[in-house]
Amino acid sequence: MIGLLIRGGRLVDPAASLDSILDLRLCDGIVVAIGERLEPAAGDEIIDAREAFVSPGFVDMHVHLREPGFPEKETIATGTSAAVRGGFTTVACMPNTKPALDDPAVIGDLMREVKRRARCRVYPIGAITLGRRGAQPCDFAALAAAGVVAFSDDGDTVEDPRVLRDAALLARNLRAPFIEHCEPEEAIALRDLQIAKETAKSWHLAHVSTAATLEILRSARRRGVGATCEATPHHLTFTSALIAQAGAAAKVNPPLRDEHDVQALRRAVYDGTIDVLASDHAPHTAQEKEGDLERAAPGFSGLEVAVGAYAAALPDLSPSRFVELISTNPARILGVRGGTLAIGEPADVTIFADRAWTVDPAEFASKGRCTPFAGARLPRKVLTTIVGGIVQFRAADCAA
Ligand code: DOR
Repeated sequence: MIGLLIRGGRLVDPAASLDSILDLRLCDGIVVAIGERLEPAAGDEIIDAREAFVSPGFVDMHVHLREPGFPEKETIATGTSAAVRGGFTTVACMPNTKPALDDPAVIGDLMREVKRRARCRVYPIGAITLGRRGAQPCDFAALAAAGVVAFSDDGDTVEDPRVLRDAALLARNLRAPFIEHCEPEEAIALRDLQIAKETAKSWHLAHVSTAATLEILRSARRRGVGATCEATPHHLTFTSALIAQAGAAAKVNPPLRDEHDVQALRRAVYDGTIDVLASDHAPHTAQEKEGDLERAAPGFSGLEVAVGAYAAALPDLSPSRFVELISTNPARILGVRGGTLAIGEPADVTIFADRAWTVDPAEFASKGRCTPFAGARLPRKVLTTIVGGIVQFRAADCAA
């Protein structure tokens, strides 16, 4: 296989304690060398990464790819094309599909489709309850054996605490965490963290959006609960005031909150309370996002704006902490490979730069063209995305 030599970039890999100008050589799908002024081997393609950051591929642990069941909203092909345009080499896909991802046979079919069509790595998130109906726990061991890396009824909360507690006990010895969609947010976060403590199940709170939830999480951690959490680009950026201007384009679950919450979320990224940045990429058709606010579908595309939006919302975040939140930590929480560029690791690399661009949803690879970031000027962009040593995306204006 032809090698790739990425030269002169600022290599940021917090898992390996690296942050300096270094060359990186990839071959046969893995990282083979890191060093100053590496010499290319015969036939190597050279990528000039001067003035850019080179990091382990980004991992988005909260993505809706909509297959099986909703190809009009998104497919494996379009969703993973959006992922690589956004710098993501790995995504984990949510189970609110049709059928739900609650059965090893459904996971098997999905993974065959992934093998045929995906442009990046895809790991499925299995449902917690059969049909996501909140009544009967899935067969967690069978789902884990089929490749599931986490469990969630995302889109819905598991309402009955007895069902959730029983499920957590059944799944407690599996590495894959429970990822809870908390609504009503604070009450469910409080309840869940209690169940996490009682059952010792690994737990992750999806799209935390309020100052009060952060306080609940901090207090649970002080009592020894090891739960992790994520924040989205939209909750780090917008308040509910946007709904008056943007209508259904600003409709999402959990909803946009107050300025106080946005500021608290940003502080929580800086102070380490938040472990992961995740897009909650939730594409819908244009018709589903039009018209009456009440009837419009919640959610919007996120993969192609996420990196720029994080940089706009978090201007003081160091590159190394950013990579931790978008690569190292989600890979660790899901227990998947990647998240570091150590020698022998998969050749999943994202090259990005602090270069401003304007969001034009007409250019999206995602079928979901609705985003509250339409027209926004964002300060950071992805130049090149490499998955398993293969360049899957290269920006048009990329020197590399
Ligand atoms: O806004 C949302 N849309 N929130 C969710 O949790 C689910 C998602 C979807 O699937 O559309």
